[in-house]
Amino acid sequence: MTYAAITGWGKCLPPAVLTNHDLSAMLDTSDDWIVSRTGIRERRISHVGLEELGYVAAARALAAAGLAGSSIELIVFGTCSHDDQVPNMASGIQRRIGAEPAAAYDINTACTSFLYGLSTASALIRTGVVKNALVIGAELISPFMDWSDRDVAVLFGDGAAAVVLEASGREEGVLAEKLGCYGEARETLRVQGMGGLYANRGVLYGITRWQFEGQEIFRRAVQGMAGACEDTLTRLHLKPADVDLLVPHQANLRIIEALAKRAHVPMERVYVNVQRYGNMSSATVPVALCEALEEGRVRPGALLLLPGFGGGLSFCAHVLRWGERTTPRQQSDAELPPNEMPAPEIIRRCLERKTRPSAAAASATPFA
Ligand code: UT7
Repeated sequence: MTYAAITGWGKCLPPAVLTNHDLSAMLDTSDDWIVSRTGIRERRISHVGLEELGYVAAARALAAAGLAGSSIELIVFGTCSHDDQVPNMASGIQRRIGAEPAAAYDINTACTSFLYGLSTASALIRTGVVKNALVIGAELISPFMDWSDRDVAVLFGDGAAAVVLEASGREEGVLAEKLGCYGEARETLRVQGMGGLYANRGVLYGITRWQFEGQEIFRRAVQGMAGACEDTLTRLHLKPADVDLLVPHQANLRIIEALAKRAHVPMERVYVNVQRYGNMSSATVPVALCEALEEGRVRPGALLLLPGFGGGLSFCAHVLRWGERTTPRQQSDAELPPNEMPAPEIIRRCLERKTRPSAAAASATPFA
């Protein structure tokens, strides 16, 4: 039997920090409200494009695995905030790491894109189609944020992480997963402005209006993730007590706590970093996994449970067996270009670019 072991991991967080205090200078909100409702204290705002974030994370993951980019056979890029739809993001990474002619495709299930990518890449390794893969979860939400809407502007951040998967005869990597979607609730999270529908109505790329029903998403998130956790553990004849570390999607500390309670995993065995980065969509789980490893919270042979939810509304949970090695083989020297700009200034410049392209477009009612 062939498994898909995780042999490399790497993250890339842009350096500019946007604090709750920065946000309360821009919006009618407060540090108290944001911390008490979400647990978030700060998030990162990127000064570079999505490909750059994804590339640095990928280069670090390859070094951790001790593999050259040229040996990679498959690249899966999970995101909903593409630099371009065509060509896709994965082909850009393929070129940057020198992996030609590796297969390269993007996956968009919003915040669950990395975990869905982990499923498809693991399946292609297990069935012998490829012998290794690079799976990336990277997101550049800030250019698509409606910075005038306090309901959403306080919740999200930018970031990226990647893992390398390799075929293995040992029982490692994803052991079971549950994937699902509440399609009838898809309108609870819609970013109007991201897509051809709006471009054809004269909306300049980056101008958005968020349709967002926080409480309904919260309820479905806990329900979907808890059900998926139970389903995967039951399928493997495992119990919550067998889980060494729960590494959930990081959207809101209260969602994580409600999930942990329903999944019967005590908070001491839950990894939380939402306070530092907010919701980085598809990047949250792989960044959390990298940091759990850096902090020594993943021991050799550990059983990990990775639940996620996102737009769609998609949900999932993966049970993963870690291998023997919990430290990187090598370090990469890949770095982002330096940045001097504070996060509010990056946002201000981004808003300046979001002006309507023509008088005709200005008279349109694009979100009607
Ligand atoms: O990965 C998928 C992405 N989606 C999510 O993660 C969303 C999941 N949902 C949540 O995390 C929570 O529902 C939120 C954090 C979005 C909201 O928390 P809540 O406890 O459900 O608050 P609420 O929506 O019930 O709002 C309570 C009050 C409202 O005022 P009124 O109507 O009670 O006067 C809001 O207008 O808080 C107000 N409010 C704010 N106040 C200060 C909403 N946003 C803010 C804000 N600052 N940023």
